[in-house]
Amino acid sequence: MGKRIHNFNAGPAALPLQVLEEIGDEFLDYKGSGMSITEVSHRSKWFDDVINEAMERTKRLLGLDDNFQVLFIQGGASLQFCMVPMNLAVAGKPVDYVNTGSWSIKAIKEAEIQGKEVRVIASSKDRDFSYIPRDVEGDPKAGYLHFTSNNTIKGTQWAEFPKSNGVPLVSDMSSDFMSRPIDVNPFGLIYAGAQKNIGPAGTAMVIIRKDMLERVQDNIPTMLKYSTFTEKNSMFNTPSCFVVYTIGLVLKWLEETIGGLGEMGRINREKAKTLYDFIDCSPFYRGTAEPDSRSIMNVTFRLPDEGLEKRFVDEALENDMGGLKGHRSVGGCRASLYNATGMEAVKALVEFMAEFERREG
Ligand SMILES: Cc1ncc(COP(=O)(O)O)c(C=O)c1O
Repeated sequence: MGKRIHNFNAGPAALPLQVLEEIGDEFLDYKGSGMSITEVSHRSKWFDDVINEAMERTKRLLGLDDNFQVLFIQGGASLQFCMVPMNLAVAGKPVDYVNTGSWSIKAIKEAEIQGKEVRVIASSKDRDFSYIPRDVEGDPKAGYLHFTSNNTIKGTQWAEFPKSNGVPLVSDMSSDFMSRPIDVNPFGLIYAGAQKNIGPAGTAMVIIRKDMLERVQDNIPTMLKYSTFTEKNSMFNTPSCFVVYTIGLVLKWLEETIGGLGEMGRINREKAKTLYDFIDCSPFYRGTAEPDSRSIMNVTFRLPDEGLEKRFVDEALENDMGGLKGHRSVGGCRASLYNATGMEAVKALVEFMAEFERREG
């Protein structure tokens, strides 16, 4: 086996080694088919089993009842910014959004482009998106309330979701999907680009509550309608077969090796605490998110100057720790601690950070 590094990439991101090995083992001959899973028909029994099992595992992991349906939609989370208002807005009602940074802003823009009556009912722009607004509640006059559950760039995360007050919550959970248990019942729809916690890039997983389908209008183009995906088991056209297959293996790892979302959440909290505790005790590193809004998935921090930050990122890579550069829009450093990045990676990072500080601090 070639070298594997500690991978702190923000997405595409680390996948469990067990999953990569399983893909390798069965790549040339998928379950006696004599073909790779990328070569079999999406209408075959092999792929049918793959997609159905991935959907069933999602339901078990999240505790979804038959009120919810699991969909795979190509186009990433960004296409969902557009599909959500297109399908779920209700004539005569505003759509409400919370603005917690770049990804929220992109979602808001797509609703505005479509001429929807968008209300930004809360925002953390006043302090450069370093926190999550408090006491956000659904207004029953709105069609839905949209928020970004984890802000990948700024490193903030909703510890508790907004109170719905009967308004369907809609959330972009791209960067903390399947990282902890959640109560799905107030949600009309959840979406997540797969490339952070559950698989490779190329597909978003969408969880839709069935009553939302009553809102879908006939005049929406076929491939942009949620009902096309619910009616055809996400196979109206050819799905991204390899992505769905890999997601299925990651979910199997999550369910059978890790033991489910409760255990995954515990491990993720411990990983994040180890890194934040170290940062908090150091006069050299400075966390950028306000402590009560910190993300357990993306830990954002600064060093005393940009020159040191560049050296830090470069030297970390020389020490087999990759992906620590902050998002290009904000600079600084970021360690993404998604499900597949284990405690051993966090411990190696903390050790390296301590050593770097001793040398440069
Ligand atoms: C919170 C969040 N939403 C949306 C996106 C965009 O996802 P995609 O590239 O799948 O469109 C990202 C990607 O980094 C993200 O972090």
